[in-house]
This record gives sequence, structure tokens and C-alpha cells, in this order.
Amino acid sequence: MNNAFNQRMLNVRLSPIVAISEEVRRRSPQFTKETGKPFILFQRGEIDYPTPKFIIDAAKNALDAGYTKYPKSGGEEVLKDAILQKLKQYNRLEGLSRNNIVCTYGGQEALQLAFTLFAGKRGAGFAPCWSCVLENFVPYSGVDFVEVPLNQDFSINVDLLEAVLKDVTFFYFNTPHNPTGKIFSEEEVRTVIDLCTRHNVFVISDEAYERIVYDGKEFFSPTSLGQENILGAFTFSKSFSMTGWRLGYLVACDPDIAKLVRLGDYTQTAGVVTFLQHAGKEALENTDAANAALSAMRTDYERRRDALFTGISAIPGVEVTRPQGGFYLFPNFSQLIPDDLDKKQRSLYIYEKLLSRGVATVYGSCFGRHFVDNIRLSFSTTPLPAIQEGIDRIHAACASEHGEG
Ligand SMILES: Cc1ncc(COP(=O)(O)O)c(C=O)c1O
Repeated sequence: MNNAFNQRMLNVRLSPIVAISEEVRRRSPQFTKETGKPFILFQRGEIDYPTPKFIIDAAKNALDAGYTKYPKSGGEEVLKDAILQKLKQYNRLEGLSRNNIVCTYGGQEALQLAFTLFAGKRGAGFAPCWSCVLENFVPYSGVDFVEVPLNQDFSINVDLLEAVLKDVTFFYFNTPHNPTGKIFSEEEVRTVIDLCTRHNVFVISDEAYERIVYDGKEFFSPTSLGQENILGAFTFSKSFSMTGWRLGYLVACDPDIAKLVRLGDYTQTAGVVTFLQHAGKEALENTDAANAALSAMRTDYERRRDALFTGISAIPGVEVTRPQGGFYLFPNFSQLIPDDLDKKQRSLYIYEKLLSRGVATVYGSCFGRHFVDNIRLSFSTTPLPAIQEGIDRIHAACASEHGEG
């Protein structure tokens, strides 16, 4: 394309998950015509729960109250104060002020602003890695990004991590983790942060799924360590089922970093929609209503996680780790993929096999170079009966691989 344009923009790609959803939409009518059944959608991170009514009412009330003027760049005081209180209560992080917070358009803008701080520098993150980081933030901010593969059981290879950290400016760290559903333990979090600190590396801590945790497990928030080299990215999307509201925030324990991010936010959007910020305040402050909504959602997701995990782990040749948080399962299909395929065919083999049976998933190469024999299954928009039907179809596809049908 014409080199008058910003070359970095030309490197940004639409998320492959969007392309997959488009392909499903194209193939779905024919599949339903032939089988009388719908496609089973395991590809998206959307949430099928509505936003709790008390938050919607707060947005309506804020509109009626006239909160329709230009927002305060970086965030309204009422929302920042609610965030500070939340950080104190939930993340056990004290001693911050409004100057440490920047309100953003979702976790995505918080992350993009954080990546932009390191434009032109070298960074790293664990692989597998959320596709938006690889397809959007990395090319948009023009950083050079090194993937540090987790072990097959998603544990950390500390030696490898340390070797990479010697040579980078920042590390992107996501827990609970998309796409594996892993929650890094307190010990693992401390190890990562200590190593980063020792090597003068900044940490972009993506805690989007902080409240989507199962089995009554405790989530250890890296941002809770309160270190000045940590930039915490948070969102209302997952905890409050507010994906379309585009509301999030960035926490920088070093106020000078927050100041820089605020300038980025101002330059980009002038600030987050004013009345939405008042609804966000209500979501954080009305903890009884929020906890009731969250706990109902989490109970349902836990059932889905159990059904999907049990079904997939019963398939011969498939290896899967039980997710502890988030909405995703990331099984490995290495044993079912023929040896004689080239790289591209290999990366799409299971995905296409499942697609032809009416099951939409995301292939492993969307999450970097290291887990191409895996696929991601999301259970965030898939009710239990659909999960069961999906498992049956995946079983059938894999059995045909074993020559059983
Ligand atoms: C790992 C991760 N981080 C951040 C986000 C950002 O979410 P949002 O921009 O909706 O707040 C997502 C969304 O899917 C995610 O999966």
C-alpha cells in the first residue's frame, strides 16, 4: 500500500477471531440446512449474561442528572475514588491517590496506552499470548515482542524467562490467563515480578479476568505488590458483564507514568464518556448487588467449565489442563495430527476438522508461535446443552481420526 501511510498501521491486523466468526456466519446456513442443527460457538470471549440492572439504572440516572458534558481527562473524581476503594478492598493495594489512576475505554485501551509508552522498544510476554496483543498492540506501538513459551503444563520456565528479561524493557503478564485459564500462583507471580525488578523491566499486568476465578480459588494480583515498575490494566467487561460499555482503567504506582498515560488518553479520546463513568462508580461501590450478580454468573460458568473439561479430557489423544479462571480451555491435539503436514496445514488441521462438524474454535497459532497444536474453546457464550452437543461432535471428529468412524 501507499507508503504515505503510517507503516505501523499497515501492520495491524484484525483479530483472527473476528475472521473465524465471519467464516462461521458464512458456513452456518449450509450446515444447518444439511443437518438441521446450529453451529456450536466456542470461539468468542463475549459474555451471554446481561449487564446487571443496577448498573444500567445508574447509567440512566446519570444521563437524567445531566452528566453529558466533556469528561475529565484521565477520569472523573467519583470513579477514581471508587477505583481506589476497590483496589484497597479487593487487591489489598493501599497508599495510592487519584494521580495513580487513568480511566480508559476498556482494558483494551489501558493496554494499548501502556504498550505505546514503550513504542520502538523491545518487550516480552508468555506464550501462548492473547491474540490482541500480538495482532494489535505490538504492531500498533511498533514494539519488538519476544514470546517466552510456558512449559506444556503451562508452568514457567524460569531460566528461559530470566534469559529473555536481560534484554527487554517491559514484560506483558496476564493472569488469570487467556487462552489457558491458568491462574499464576502467588509464588509464580512473585517470581516473575522479582525477576523483572532485578533486570529493570517494567511489567504490564493484564488482570482483565481478576474476578472470573473458580473453585473458591484466591487470585493473587501482581498490581497488589504496589511496585513502581508495574502498570496494572483492569476492565469492567468481564467482572460486571459490561463488554459493550468499554470501561476500564490503568493503575500506575509511579504517578509520573500515570501522567504520561493520561496524556495518551487525552490525545486519543479526551476521556471516557462521562455518564458511563458514573455507572462504573455504582458497579464498584454497590458491592452487595455486584457480588450477587457475579456469583450467579460464576456458578454457571463453573458448571460449564466442569462439563467442557470432563468431556474434552475423556477424548483419547487429547491433553487438557483444568482452567482455574477465565472462560477458556486450551487442549493439545498433537497426537491426533498427522506427521506429514506442512506448518500451515498443521496449524489449521483440527480447527478445520471441527468446523466441518459445526464446531467453531480458535486455532493455536492465533496465540503465537509455540502452541500451534492446541485450540482454544470458550465457554462464555455457550450454555450447557450446547456444550454437551459440542463435546459429542468433537468426540466424533477425534474418533474418526482414530479410524473409528
Ligand atoms: C486477556 C485479555 N485482556 C484484556 C481484555 C480486554 O477487554 P476489554 O477491552 O473488553 O476491557 C480481554 C478481552 O477479551 C482479554 O481477553
